[in-house]
Amino acid sequence: MRLFIALIPSPSVKDALIHVQRDLDYQGVQGNYTKEGNLHLTLAFIGEYSDPDEVFDALATVSFSTFSLTLEGIGTFGDLWWAGVALSPALDTLASRIRRALAENHIPFDRKKFSPHITLLRKAVMTSGVPEIQVPAVAMTVDRFTLMRSDRGKHGMLYTELGSIFSL
Ligand code: 2AM
Repeated sequence: MRLFIALIPSPSVKDALIHVQRDLDYQGVQGNYTKEGNLHLTLAFIGEYSDPDEVFDALATVSFSTFSLTLEGIGTFGDLWWAGVALSPALDTLASRIRRALAENHIPFDRKKFSPHITLLRKAVMTSGVPEIQVPAVAMTVDRFTLMRSDRGKHGMLYTELGSIFSL
């Protein structure tokens, strides 16, 4: 099973991201747009792992207080385009605690530096120049994080929530 840990955006953040995607599309950016139901912010990527219960038990040891996160800016990793979030020490701390809990339980994960982003589209191609995009500063309350399963479906990736850990 291919596993990762993510924050699921609130409905208002999802709405804002969908508007940004529509704006990109309108301004001629073509590519594989992330479907609304798949929008997420990855906190840690585990990859292939056979025992999700073991991962969930490790994650259940992570405690955190509710915090707020605000959308901010747009960026790219090559041809992957993403929306960013405003600097958040609480988010960084949550990602570190999750990663520490995985390490302490000998669950392997991608150790690449945490770089918070929400993927808007992959394989992007600009067909009418560089778009002018504003990402609205929509805020959401983070009171849970979620163990996700990723499967390759007939019509693209399928992400399924396996379970969430809630704030104190
Ligand atoms: P993303 O966060 O940049 O969109 C499930 O595959 C999710 O985990 C994807 O959204 C993916 O990219 C993220 N991810 C993070 N590290 C990854 C890795 N090493 N391999 C595949 N996906 C990874």
